[in-house]
Amino acid sequence: MEKLELSYQEFTHLRDLIYRKSGMFFPDYKQEYLSLKVENRIAALHLASLHEYLSHLENHYGELQNLFNEVTVNETYFYREETSAEILLSHILYPLLEAKPIIKIVCAGCSTGEEPYTLALFLKERFPLLLQRFKILACDLNTAVLEKARLGRYRAYSVRNVPERIRERYFTAQEGGEYLLSQEIRSMVEFFHMNLLDIPFFSPFTGSDVIVCRNVLIYFDMESRKKVIKDFHDALTPEGHLILGKTESIFSINELFTLVHYPQTIFYRKEVHP
Ligand SMILES: C[S@@+](CC[C@H](N)C(=O)[O-])C[C@H]1O[C@@H](n2cnc3c(N)ncnc32)[C@H](O)[C@@H]1O
Repeated sequence: MEKLELSYQEFTHLRDLIYRKSGMFFPDYKQEYLSLKVENRIAALHLASLHEYLSHLENHYGELQNLFNEVTVNETYFYREETSAEILLSHILYPLLEAKPIIKIVCAGCSTGEEPYTLALFLKERFPLLLQRFKILACDLNTAVLEKARLGRYRAYSVRNVPERIRERYFTAQEGGEYLLSQEIRSMVEFFHMNLLDIPFFSPFTGSDVIVCRNVLIYFDMESRKKVIKDFHDALTPEGHLILGKTESIFSINELFTLVHYPQTIFYRKEVHP
């Protein structure tokens, strides 16, 4: 097949569909990106044209998931935003240990697992005798990244920021330059498939003490971002915390959360209105 170039109309048709179903919004400058991704799907399915692909998409329920798996941006690595993890441990989790028996943390949009596993490594190092008091869940829309997360096998690029001491203790070098995370750390995280735009009223998020959602809502527009943040708010325990990426903010919807400032980090504490 020749290089695919979506017309503007085809592009907007596909981007509206992806937006309605997932919250991810592709602005105009992403037209070429989306063309490339759709081209990959057409090739994988041995179809002859975009027209055939659109009809396949309409008639095969599972194809939308394949398209999601193709278009999501899954960049992540271990020890990304390390300061935020340290502050989470000392300012939020440590006091919570005094207050309740089980602490539930959910990573939303966890990609291949580096983020929740980093948290598991921090907990293992800091609270080795209290690990059974933490429940770490992690979800993503992309089923392919979740499979990789469960395997716990990573390229050198992913572990480049892991301190030497931690790498030696919890990773085993594999053939081909990859690293396998220890079963002990892998068993601390439970992965599940979830579309953040469709969080049901009762879900694995319900009763979370902390929701970490970094570098995910940047791909959403304001309306879908607001919906997800409201659902996070409903799912958190009173005074539960939401943690976003360093460069993200929810300033326009802060009636739901109080900003709590720490050095180089902002967390959002749930506001409970009487
Ligand atoms: C850039 S990665 C961020 C990974 C990790 N949180 C980090 O900061 O290192 C964004 C992830 O969000 C996921 N994502 C995008 N839209 C989603 C949705 N509607 N529901 C759940 N996950 C979604 C993508 O599949 C991708 O794995």
